[in-house]
Amino acid sequence: MELPTDLLGRGLRDLRISVTDRCNFRCRYCMPVEVFGPGYAFMPREELLTFEEIITLVRALVPLGIGKIRLTGGEPLMRRGLEDLVAMLATVEGVRDIAITTNGVLLAHHAEALALAGLNRVTVSLDALDPVIFAKMNGVGAKVERVLAGISSARAFGLPVKVNAVIQRGVNEGEILPLARWAKSTGVDLRYIEYMDVGESNRWKLDEVVSGDEILSILATEFPLVPRDPAYRGEVAAHWKHAGGAGEVGLIRSVTKPFCRDCQRLRLSADGKIFTCLFAADGHDLRGILRSGMNGDVLREAVRSVWQVRSDRYSEERGRVSRPKAEMSYLGG
Ligand code: GTP
Ligand code: 5AD
Ligand code: SF4
Ligand code: SF4
Repeated sequence: MELPTDLLGRGLRDLRISVTDRCNFRCRYCMPVEVFGPGYAFMPREELLTFEEIITLVRALVPLGIGKIRLTGGEPLMRRGLEDLVAMLATVEGVRDIAITTNGVLLAHHAEALALAGLNRVTVSLDALDPVIFAKMNGVGAKVERVLAGISSARAFGLPVKVNAVIQRGVNEGEILPLARWAKSTGVDLRYIEYMDVGESNRWKLDEVVSGDEILSILATEFPLVPRDPAYRGEVAAHWKHAGGAGEVGLIRSVTKPFCRDCQRLRLSADGKIFTCLFAADGHDLRGILRSGMNGDVLREAVRSVWQVRSDRYSEERGRVSRPKAEMSYLGG
């Protein structure tokens, strides 16, 4: 089958599936409590794609080139029975890699079942080791020990773990070195993320971004680092190895070094819309097609036609274009 390319020549390789728009954290840079308070209207259950619908969709899209699946949210472990979805995905021929991005708080309870179901790897968000900074950033007072326990548990069940840390000026730049020390001593792959202007709720300001260069220069005060080549085309993070030692650190510099040129990711929201960019205002509905009983060919051709006219490269155009954007908790991180 002919694989689609978009208007900038990019193929379709990764699918990021949001399984819920809910989260048990209220990170200020993602779901500030003033916006996502007790009265916030999350998606009603019947709006969510069922696991069967997700699998129908994935089966239909694999022939277009998708081999990597990432489950996100919101917090994906808030979706009941996520292990069952992983097990179902693992049976789909052509799916080579199943990962999850989680805040880690519920991970210790689920790690064994996820590993047994066929999950390949886990990415845990961890922005601070300091309990006070961590509690403030997650907005609900969650304890860092629970996240660390989740990470240990995942590793104990054989799941490779990456850690993402969003760095925000005036909030957690003092955590850059402690996180690096911890990652080096535990052997976890740590990636620092530049704070991004996703969604509309976080009131992002450029001066709150700690650039990758700045993060590197802070790291260099303690760790001699040498750059390494990308592991594959389109790798989101650039990596540096610890000179003369084990381990490495990564930088996800979507503000200062955008990586749109190689962006082969499609996002699926929990209510069944596809988004061709993290910064898109709106998506294309697939749930209607799914629920009208049409077959996989119809779904596949709908996605192909969306992909073929894709021209998104928001991070490369930042500052030059302004448009409303969907929230990350809705369309998937
Ligand atoms: P792997 O190397 O397969 O593990 O990729 P990865 O999935 O670990 O990288 P990941 O997709 O986890 O990206 C980590 C973070 O980078 C995300 O949580 C986002 O903050 C950011 N990111 C991921 N994809 C995109 C994207 O398409 N555009 C932008 N601007 N940022 C992204
Ligand atoms: N900027 C950068 N990263 C963000 N994330 C959530 N919101 C933002 C933002 N505004 C990160 C989370 C998680 C991943 C899904 O995206 O911390 O690691
Ligand atoms: Fe939840 Fe992740 Fe958003 Fe934090 S960044 S509020 S953990 S979805
Ligand atoms: Fe892809 Fe859009 Fe992110 Fe660029 S800004 S890397 S096009 S998702």
